[in-house]
Order: sequence, then C-alpha cells, then structure tokens
Amino acid sequence: MGKKVLIITGSPRQKGNTNALATAFASGAVAAGNEVEVFDAATANLHGCSGDKSCEQRGYCGQKDDGVQMNELMRQADVLVLVSPIYWSGFTSQIKRAIDRFYQFSFPKGRETLHIKELYLIAASANPDPAMFNDVVHAYEQLCELLHFDKGGTLLCPGLAGEDDLEDHKEFLENAIKMGFTI
Ligand SMILES: Cc1cc2nc3c(=O)[nH]c(=O)nc-3n(C[C@H](O)[C@H](O)[C@H](O)COP(=O)(O)O)c2cc1C
Repeated sequence: MGKKVLIITGSPRQKGNTNALATAFASGAVAAGNEVEVFDAATANLHGCSGDKSCEQRGYCGQKDDGVQMNELMRQADVLVLVSPIYWSGFTSQIKRAIDRFYQFSFPKGRETLHIKELYLIAASANPDPAMFNDVVHAYEQLCELLHFDKGGTLLCPGLAGEDDLEDHKEFLENAIKMGFTI
C-alpha cells in the first residue's frame, strides 16, 4: 500500500532550486503509488515557537495559525521530507519556524499522535563545498534521534546559486526522482 508523504519546503524563491527538487521528489513518490502533500513554510502564516512549553502538557501546539494545518498533515504522514536552501550555513528562517514547531512532538503526548517512520532531507547551496551542509545534516540527525524517526536519507546539492542552475545539474533532479520513488 502507498505511503502518505509530507514535504515541507522553505524557500522564499518560489521558482528556485529546492522547490524544483521537491517537485521531482514528489513525482517519483507519486509514480511509485504514494500520496504526497506539500506544506510550504515560506508562504504559510507560521509563527515561531512561543517557547512556553505549554505543548508538553497539552500534547499539541496552541498557536492558531497555519501550524494547525501543518500539524494535521504531520499526524497523517508516514514519511516526512524537509527541503531547504542553505542560508548562512543553516536552514532558511522560513523552514526553521516549521522545525521549531515540531517541539510539540518531542514530548510523549504529542509524539504518540504521530506515525511518521522516516525523515528525509533535501538541501541546496551555492557554494560547491559539501561542508556547507554540515549544520543542517547535524540538525537532521538530531531531529531523527529526538523525534524517533528513522533516517530515510539526504540529498545534498552543492553549487546551485542561480534559479536556473539545475539546468546544468540534471543529476540532482534525477536523484530526487529516484529518492522519491524508493521511499
Ligand atoms: C540570505 C541567503 C544566504 C545564503 N547563504 C548561503 C550559504 O551560507 N552558503 C551557500 O553555499 N549558499 C548560500 N546561499 C545561496 C542559496 O543556498 C542557493 O542559492 C540555493 O540554491 C537557493 O535555493 P532556492 O533556489 O531554492 O531558493 C544563500 C542565499 C541567500 C539568499
């Protein structure tokens, strides 16, 4: 039976590299019989975590913004995929807001509402040095550990500066399709 896949994107550049990689991943996943939902943290009305930890007792985040929809999609998902450009060696602030809101799922009450098995990470940087991804890969590993997700895999795409740079790096798109197909 197909899986439910939730892709969370985080680039303010709507026609940019990471959204194209997310679309490629989604096309592979759908071709293999899975269902895909996309939540775009860059256009969502998503506030940062309030830090009051009230979610620990309540079991869910009390903020009434688009996080309500994101949380519902997370509760339905079997597979989660985070897709972000590298900004200053880390995630964009747009996707970081989404990740911070996962705090509600790090406590037993919130975690038992999830059945996500695997987390994937797709990221793009302008710098060709693969070390650009060290911080986001570390954060990805932490998320897997603390939220009890298996590591699905990472697709790290260096050397993509301009919006059309994937034209010269079709291998990244092909790898994104393959990754989506084999989840
Ligand atoms: C504010 C900002 C910060 C960035 N910081 C980095 C960085 O630290 N390292 C890097 O290699 N690229 C950096 N970039 C480049 C983006 O990661 C790169 O262009 C990426 O392909 C953008 O993805 P997108 O087209 O999906 O938005 C930065 C871009 C912006 C706008």
